[in-house]
Amino acid sequence: NIKGCIFDLDGVVVDTAKYHFLAWKKLGQELGFDFTEQDNERLKGVSRMRSLDILLEIGGLSLTEEEKVAAATKKNEWYLEYIKQMKPEEILPGVLDFFKSLKEAGIKIALGSASKNAVLILNILDIKGYFDVIVDGNSVSKAKPDPEVFLQGAEKLGLTAEECVVFEDAEAGVEAAKNGGMRCVGIGEPAVLSKADVVVDGFNAFTIENLKQL
Ligand code: G6P
Ligand code: MG
Repeated sequence: NIKGCIFDLDGVVVDTAKYHFLAWKKLGQELGFDFTEQDNERLKGVSRMRSLDILLEIGGLSLTEEEKVAAATKKNEWYLEYIKQMKPEEILPGVLDFFKSLKEAGIKIALGSASKNAVLILNILDIKGYFDVIVDGNSVSKAKPDPEVFLQGAEKLGLTAEECVVFEDAEAGVEAAKNGGMRCVGIGEPAVLSKADVVVDGFNAFTIENLKQL
């Protein structure tokens, strides 16, 4: 009864999470404070402006709205420098085979990402064609853990929440899926993603057979 799979992008399809981290860390340094990988967990799945607010909170700084827009723009420019150099080899292991097996099984594929750079990244990786539907940071108004991004994905696929499975690496993303009434496969650490129905460390450990058993 699973008819659609909705994928988060950053940290699920490709490891852009590390580039987000490097760009935020650089911004932190410029603002005069350190930003650790542990702090970075809080930014996963979180929109650009909300991420900046969390970063500033960690650094104990406050900026005017204008300064915030400038800082977020700067971070994004650094981030774009990294992602422009990405190669299709950076698609995470097992992802393409999983996409192909979904296609063969007639299961639809959607993207459900908070990123405004999502389409650019799919094009750089040359995988846009796999997606029947794309919902990204340009089409949603409520950020994860609000389920809007995934509910829009299901609706655009013409499916109900119960017919969809979400793949997420972020705590806020897992919560968004569960808040939307969807099954969720966590990609990452079981301790961080405890609300997911199952947690695996990547698509080499998850096949269409596992999907059918959810
Ligand atoms: C994803 C990432 C976040 C990122 C957000 C916005 O959810 O996990 O780390 O902040 O997208 O990305 P953007 O590319 O629009 O800055
Ligand atoms: Mg993610």
